[in-house]
Amino acid sequence: MTAITSRELVRRDLPQVISISRENMATIIFTSWGVEYRDEDLLQFLLDPSAFTEVLEEDGRIVAYYSVEERNENLYINSIQVQKGHQGQGLGREMMERIEARARSGGLRGIELWVQVTNRSAMEFYRHLGYHMVSRQGNNYLMRLRLDPREGWRLV
Ligand SMILES: CC(C)(COP(=O)(O)OP(=O)(O)OC[C@H]1O[C@@H](n2cnc3c(N)ncnc32)[C@H](O)[C@@H]1OP(=O)(O)O)[C@@H](O)C(=O)NCCC(=O)NCCS
Repeated sequence: MTAITSRELVRRDLPQVISISRENMATIIFTSWGVEYRDEDLLQFLLDPSAFTEVLEEDGRIVAYYSVEERNENLYINSIQVQKGHQGQGLGREMMERIEARARSGGLRGIELWVQVTNRSAMEFYRHLGYHMVSRQGNNYLMRLRLDPREGWRLV
């Protein structure tokens, strides 16, 4: 396997990022909500200046990305996706570690995300990394990892 590099998203990355997300999420969105996947929803937060998006590349091709933003003293994960064919190789963990490091360096209280109730695999992935279920809204669960900025400890 060639080396994976990372950098912040630029505009020309959008088609690749959208394609990864669509391929992963279209079925999940449809089974959760009964609606078609909409590129506009993803574009809206990728282009939001308050979001930070990083892409992981292999041989100049984007294989994964995540997008986060700060909300009420938490870091919120808008999207995290690993391209099919590259899943299960540690890239998701690598991105979650980067997200956690970012939250800690910003002195934030925790990390939050929404996951579709039908996306059991992602839910188990987050749970494996220490996240717990906070609440349910419609067909989404809110999950959270609490951080103690003083100690660098995890408090679930
Ligand atoms: C969910 C996702 C981001 C995880 O990334 P990944 O690269 O496949 O996961 P990793 O290989 O980094 O796994 C990290 C750890 O989580 C564990 N894990 C991953 N999926 C798991 C699952 N379904 N159940 C239990 N553990 C799981 C792995 O065993 C690994 O454990 P270890 O590091 O202790 O050995 C990725 O699979 C993905 O993009 N899925 C489709 C899109 C999606 O659902 N995104 C989330 C939307 S909310």
